[in-house]
Amino acid sequence: MTTDHPLVVGLGGSPGHPSVTNQLLLSCLARLDAETVSFGGDELGQLPIYGAAPVETGLQTSTVAESLVEAVRRADAVVIATPGYHGGMSGLVKNALDHLEALRTDARPYLDGRAVGVIVSAGGWQAAGSALVSVRSAVHALRGWPTPFGVTVNSAEQRPDGDGRFDERVEGALDVLAAQLAQFLAWQR
Ligand SMILES: Cc1cc2nc3c(=O)[nH]c(=O)nc-3n(C[C@H](O)[C@H](O)[C@H](O)COP(=O)(O)O)c2cc1C
Repeated sequence: MTTDHPLVVGLGGSPGHPSVTNQLLLSCLARLDAETVSFGGDELGQLPIYGAAPVETGLQTSTVAESLVEAVRRADAVVIATPGYHGGMSGLVKNALDHLEALRTDARPYLDGRAVGVIVSAGGWQAAGSALVSVRSAVHALRGWPTPFGVTVNSAEQRPDGDGRFDERVEGALDVLAAQLAQFLAWQR
C-alpha cells in the first residue's frame, strides 16, 4: 500500500433479493475506515463464465470483468462473502475468482499481499464451515492472506432485522473480522 487511504474490495456472491450474504458484506465494509468498492450478486451475475468461450473470440471481456479485475488490482484488502451452496462457495464467487487469472502476470499477482476476509451464510452449520474452507483454499491458491477469523452465519437461525442488523454474536463476529482487516492494513503501512 502506498497511501494512507486503503482500498477494500468486496465480493458478494448471492443472487438473492434480499440476501443475508450481501447484507453481511455491506455490514463488514461499513466498519472499515477505507475506500470500499462492492461487487454484489447483481454485478457478479453479469460476468461471463470464465473459459466458456475461447479468449480469441473476445467474448470473455465485459465491462464488469474489467472493473472487477482493475478494482482487485488496486485493492489493499478483499472481503469475500458467499452463500453455502452444496457445501462450497457459490458459482458466482468461484467464477469471479477465476476471472482474477487476468492478474497472473502482475507485479502483485492474483491476491498477493492482500488480506482477505471471508464471510459465509448457509442454511446450516455444516455447509457454513465447509464453504469457509473452500473459499480459504482458493484464496491460498491465489496467494492471498485469509484473516485468522472468518464469519459464519446460519441463516436458518440468524437473520438481519429491518435495519440490516444481526444478533449480538454476528455483529460481534463482524467487529472481529473488520478489526483484523484493519490490523493487516496498518501492518502494510
Ligand atoms: C443452490 C443452493 C444450494 C444450497 N446448498 C446449501 C447447502 O449445501 N447447505 C446449506 O446449509 N444450505 C444450502 N443452501 C441454503 C443457503 O446457503 C442459505 O439459504 C444462504 O443463507 C443463502 O444466502 P442468501 O440469503 O445470501 O442468498 C443452498 C441454497 C441454494 C440456493
